[in-house]
Amino acid sequence: MIKPVTSKWKRYYMNGELKIFSGSANQPLAREISGKLRLKLGDCLIDRFSDGEIRIKINENVRGTDTFIIQPTFPPADNLMELLMLIDAARRASARRITAVIPYFGYSRQERKDQPRVPISAKLVANLITTAGADRVLTLDLHAEAIQGFFDIPVDHLYAMPVIIDYISRLKLRDLVVVAPDTGGANRARAFAKRLGPNVPLAFIDKRRPMANQVEVLNVVGDVSGKHCLIVDDILDTGRTLTKVAEILKKNGARDIYASATHPVLSGNAVECLERSSIKRLVTTNTIPLAANRTCPKVVVLSIARLLSDAINRIHNEKSVSSLFV
Ligand code: R5P
Repeated sequence: MIKPVTSKWKRYYMNGELKIFSGSANQPLAREISGKLRLKLGDCLIDRFSDGEIRIKINENVRGTDTFIIQPTFPPADNLMELLMLIDAARRASARRITAVIPYFGYSRQERKDQPRVPISAKLVANLITTAGADRVLTLDLHAEAIQGFFDIPVDHLYAMPVIIDYISRLKLRDLVVVAPDTGGANRARAFAKRLGPNVPLAFIDKRRPMANQVEVLNVVGDVSGKHCLIVDDILDTGRTLTKVAEILKKNGARDIYASATHPVLSGNAVECLERSSIKRLVTTNTIPLAANRTCPKVVVLSIARLLSDAINRIHNEKSVSSLFV
């Protein structure tokens, strides 16, 4: 049991008093996290000049504090800019340590130079966050584990898997197969299968993507006939990957199809696409807030606030974060 952060304990921590601030990208999640830590969200102004430029002001003393700034960096890029400016403001106000808490790390899908004349946007964003003055990063389900290495500061990388597995286990599905929608997702799917039971098998999809945001699904590798399927992915953007995978699983005789994606980007007509698909339920999290018009009855949103607040508490108290996953 982790000790709650109370005023009695605060002054003994070597990193200074714990303070939590939030940008405007996901304030409900930030409030949930600070509530679990029994702290009030720090007071800061996030405003716009009349031309649309962001204006930030931290309205309380942060000198000598252990400051955590919560901001997922999904589009628009203003979310990233707010994070950078909050970090800069905290650094110039002499916070002792600044941790960027990034529940969804945007611009992560160009993480290697696999074609000529392309940027490595994930590295560029990592450089920006470090240059702004972050001392650490706390994030969740990065698109690729290697992105941790793009930072020369410590990165604590959490997984939504325990939260999602807890939900799926309660459905008590028999004859379940975990499906990786592409070879890049094989390790994630294997980890899910292992934790869902000793004999839960895996299947893989041989996916080719001719152009960005276009998916061509080719083959199922593994036996899904007569089985319930859980497709495991990190991001649901247009929804094409998951719905096409569901289609091919159905063609191969699958029973009910469940899908999980940690980050509900849900752009364009992803929700309509999901509604029309053979996916029975999409399990996702609140790393990105869902407006009422960007959801449907098939979508179940699980909160990752407990996971993030436990991790913040452990980082603040210099305790192991990986032990959250054993
Ligand atoms: C791809 O490599 C990712 O893991 C996701 O499969 C992808 O970002 C999902 O995108 P969409 O929903 O647009 O198919």
